Amino acid sequence: MARLGRQEQSIMADSTRIAPATGRLGVLTPGMGAVATTFYAGVLAIRQGQAMPIGSLTQMGHIRLGKRTDNRNPLIKEMVPLAGLDDLVFGGWDPFPDNAFEAACKAGVLQAKDLLPLKAQLEAIRPMPAVFDQNWVRRLDGPNVKQGETKMDLARQLMEDMQRFQAENQLDRLVVVWCASTEVYEEPQAVHMSLEAFEQGLRNSDPAIAPSQIYAYAALKLGIPFANGAPNLTVDIPAMLELANQNRVPICGKDFKTGQTLMKTILAPGLKARMLGIRGWFSTNILGNRDGEVLDDPDSFRSKEVSKLGVLENLLQPEAYPELYADLYHKVRINYYPPHGDNKEGWDNIDIFGWLGYPMQIKVDFLCRDSILAAPIVLDLALFMDLAGRAGQKGIQEWLSFYFKSPQHAEGLYPEHDLFIQQTKLKNTLRHWMGEDLITHLGAEYYEDEN
Ligand SMILES: NC(=O)c1ccc[n+]([C@@H]2O[C@H](COP(=O)([O-])OP(=O)(O)OC[C@H]3O[C@@H](n4cnc5c(N)ncnc54)[C@H](O)[C@@H]3O)[C@@H](O)[C@H]2O)c1
Repeated sequence: MARLGRQEQSIMADSTRIAPATGRLGVLTPGMGAVATTFYAGVLAIRQGQAMPIGSLTQMGHIRLGKRTDNRNPLIKEMVPLAGLDDLVFGGWDPFPDNAFEAACKAGVLQAKDLLPLKAQLEAIRPMPAVFDQNWVRRLDGPNVKQGETKMDLARQLMEDMQRFQAENQLDRLVVVWCASTEVYEEPQAVHMSLEAFEQGLRNSDPAIAPSQIYAYAALKLGIPFANGAPNLTVDIPAMLELANQNRVPICGKDFKTGQTLMKTILAPGLKARMLGIRGWFSTNILGNRDGEVLDDPDSFRSKEVSKLGVLENLLQPEAYPELYADLYHKVRINYYPPHGDNKEGWDNIDIFGWLGYPMQIKVDFLCRDSILAAPIVLDLALFMDLAGRAGQKGIQEWLSFYFKSPQHAEGLYPEHDLFIQQTKLKNTLRHWMGEDLITHLGAEYYEDEN
């Protein structure tokens, strides 16, 4: 048998005790719009054998274990104890009272032929009244909204919703994935800096506390993992981190990495790996869904812009490669154009340069479907966050950076944006938890002299 290389020896596996995925898991989504309803409908269709879970790593991904010569390559869902699709129960909140069937029809992502066989099941998913405030999402105004004396009172009502949903559906566990609209941009303020200040702020209805933070607070108070699919700050503040650590609950965010940013984090690491320079990267999006309408408001767009712009800066490390990336001009635009509906066009012009500084261009025109790309991310996050909870993990789950445009990370670290490093990190985390050896791709032992 080949001897282990020195590096392999130093990273022998540890194993984490993980409670089994027994019973049923409730997946609650603040927001029952295009992404959430495409997610529910997709899982229901897959459950009925009408579709395949394409785009979902938890359902379709394999993971190599041991050496290449071991030929061990199980499905991820067979390697780690994940909740099964049959055990998922869906619920959510929305300021619009449409049930999930009506909302899916309005969102216009899935066709009637795919939705009709699921009609009864989708109709049964009715939105609970939302914690909603037009100051945070200016383009929307719906009637299905909670009233409360203070923001603390609203948080209490959300906790009651979660507990009632769990009891009525006889669920073992819950996870919350934020699928609601992008809130207006905000910088962290004094009220976000500690749990004590935040709780006082809830009691005083501090205007700097966003609705998304009230949902997150309610979930974390009850020990329910919370994932943030939008670019809002939400759990990315010291107060939430303190609560997550105190109650030993996993959190992650922010902003699902789909369409254009997914392409960016596939292409840019490749260009950088070959030491090709980039002078300019112009990205424009043309979309016509409700998300596009919300992002037409400059303050909501600002949240998105910050999330989208950070990617290249972190990925290309211009401080280490000033000749290649210091002068990069990066521009991101979102254009609301109703005729396109949910079928977004992500258009990129990339001005690159190579040997002797000779310029070249890359044009990417990604005719994507936003919610088709986002729905499997919601599924994976729900299952992985539930796993993390059962594995006793708390606080930021950086191993889930793979799914986010703006991965939440510990203070003092830079976020990892390279999709392939993110994937390695995710898979090594699973190997580590399961007591398997980590994979470094060194592979020196295959070539060591046996004599
Ligand atoms: N689709 C993608 O590829 C993608 C990628 C990254 C991030 N996102 C984010 O995911 C979120 C959902 O996207 P979508 O296309 O489903 O949008 P959408 O507009 O179709 O759905 C959002 C829903 O959230 C509801 N909502 C707004 N504020 C709420 C609140 N306080 N509580 C409960 N519900 C609330 C709205 O009424 C709406 O029905 C957006 O924030 C979007 O920016 C989407």
